[in-house]
Amino acid sequence: MDGNGRWALGRGLPRAAGHQAGAEAVRRVVEIAPELGVAVLTLFAFSADNWQRPPEEVATLMTLFRHFLDAETPRLVENQVRLEIIGRRDRLDPLLCSAIARAEAETAKGACLRLRVAIDYSGREAILSAARSLADLSRPSLDEALGPPVDLLIRTGGEYRLSDFLLWESAYAELIFARCMWPDFTGSDLAGAVQQFRARDRRFGTVPAAAPAAAWLD
Ligand code: IPE
Ligand code: MG
Repeated sequence: MDGNGRWALGRGLPRAAGHQAGAEAVRRVVEIAPELGVAVLTLFAFSADNWQRPPEEVATLMTLFRHFLDAETPRLVENQVRLEIIGRRDRLDPLLCSAIARAEAETAKGACLRLRVAIDYSGREAILSAARSLADLSRPSLDEALGPPVDLLIRTGGEYRLSDFLLWESAYAELIFARCMWPDFTGSDLAGAVQQFRARDRRFGTVPAAAPAAAWLD
């Protein structure tokens, strides 16, 4: 979810206003996702690298996460959304940790959408910690220790990189790079991305089932 800061600066607003607007975009996207056939939606909210931002911005984001969890949980329950926070917990404020635990417990029965929000997340770190947990034989594979495979990965904000997001899980992800800033991302942008995804030929390294005659041989 990239571009909150630039969205705000472009309007002469503080970056915090961009993060607030970004939270509203989350609400819109979460509401429309099930209608579009999306069963699992993972949002990258705060990367392990984001700790390097100025402490005031980090504090603003952490407070926003906590308020958002508290404010949104009833709506998530109503819409049958199951919330799961991925990433490290040991560096988060205890107040945020309890808001996460509450929101996860209250939404645990949601069956319409599995919403995963990455906070203090690093794809490389997740792979390392999953690999370490393999020593515990109850975890048979990395696939099981990590999340479900990503089908479609959308990055907003006009950047063309993965920034340490779901690296293992995105091995065969279709990539879409949206030029808009995250707060401007709408339900119809998501619908458009899903439509593009459906039109893609996902071969996973195989040849097409019915190979069309190659025009250049004629
Ligand atoms: C939101 O966008 C991503 C978060 C880490 C919360 P940014 O804060 O990265 O916005 P830009 O890239 O500065 O515009
Ligand atoms: Mg950014």
